[in-house]
Amino acid sequence: MIHAEKLTSNMSPDLKTTDDGSVGAGAARRGAGDFLLGSGIVLAVPHRLVRSAWIGHIPFAYWVVDALRPRSFVELGTYSGCSYAAFLQAITALRLASSCYAVDTWKGDAHSGFYGEDIYQELAAYHDSHYGSFSRLLRMTFDEARVHFSDGTIDLIHIDGFHTYEAVSHDVQAWLPKASSRGLVLIHDINARERNFGVWRCWEELSAKYPSFAFLHCHGLGVAWVGTEPMPEPIAWLMELANVKGGSGDVEIVRNYFNRLGSGLIDQFASGERNKAIRERDEILRKHDETLRERDEAVRTRDEALRERDLRITDLAKDLAEARKYWGLGPIVHAPGEFSRFLRGKHPTRRT
Ligand SMILES: C[S@@+](CC[C@H](N)C(=O)[O-])C[C@H]1O[C@@H](n2cnc3c(N)ncnc32)[C@H](O)[C@@H]1O
Repeated sequence: MIHAEKLTSNMSPDLKTTDDGSVGAGAARRGAGDFLLGSGIVLAVPHRLVRSAWIGHIPFAYWVVDALRPRSFVELGTYSGCSYAAFLQAITALRLASSCYAVDTWKGDAHSGFYGEDIYQELAAYHDSHYGSFSRLLRMTFDEARVHFSDGTIDLIHIDGFHTYEAVSHDVQAWLPKASSRGLVLIHDINARERNFGVWRCWEELSAKYPSFAFLHCHGLGVAWVGTEPMPEPIAWLMELANVKGGSGDVEIVRNYFNRLGSGLIDQFASGERNKAIRERDEILRKHDETLRERDEAVRTRDEALRERDLRITDLAKDLAEARKYWGLGPIVHAPGEFSRFLRGKHPTRRT
């Protein structure tokens, strides 16, 4: 197991991006290998792995926190905290002095489904004990939360709320002014093409205006630099990849790299769920076994009682035969019902 706390980053901040998408300073030119393998944190084991369509992006969340080192982070749409916890885990592991906020009504919406109070309560208990010192859960609508942040102050904004074109465009317009001069915006579900999801359309508009990179796995994650300062080198390298004429092949490498790492976590979550289901089924089987054992015991006790009654009947029959012999009476003819009537002395049957 690799723990994020033990990993360090060697993503150097002092190199410049060149035309072909690699980053060079003098003779030194760096590419996918350096920027991907340079961030050991992408291999961290998630501390919180919960059901979510976001699991496959967790390694990139680690990477982007390492690359950007955000002073402030806001997530719009947190649900059970899969994505939010990944960002906070990286921020903690890298010992960044960031302030973080998760905004959600924790009621759900027509796309994610409406859910109960238990989701918020469980997340709040986990969140407050692990990250309460630098992060807050803001239980309100995105619009209500907006007034609590000054313009130009947020380095990293992750938008994952309601997914219609109208809703996500509104969220982007409302929150873009909040981004700082080092602002990076992430948008989930840019590659969801079902129901009335319209994030892809909003992403087309946004990525036409800002340097960007798009992941296509796990419903897609868009990454857009909306800041005015020069980008940190790893971010610049990522954004440049999409601009290389004819493609450098690195776009595919990067997409595959994060898709494969993310798939590993999805498999890990699925196998955890399977194990949980197996444990639950084992428990049901154990209870069934216990019921069967109790029933076997009851049958055994009843068999024992029947055996004792049979013995008693045999003894009584013997006594009766001897008594009849003594009184000179013949053996009993066993006709249906007659034996019991005979015992009650009503219809003694004799054989002559
Ligand atoms: C897709 S889920 C978020 C998933 C989460 N990022 C994860 O990692 O699993 C969307 C969430 O956004 C919240 N939401 C949608 N629209 C909202 C709004 N306008 N204000 C506050 N919360 C909203 C819903 O309550 C829901 O929990």
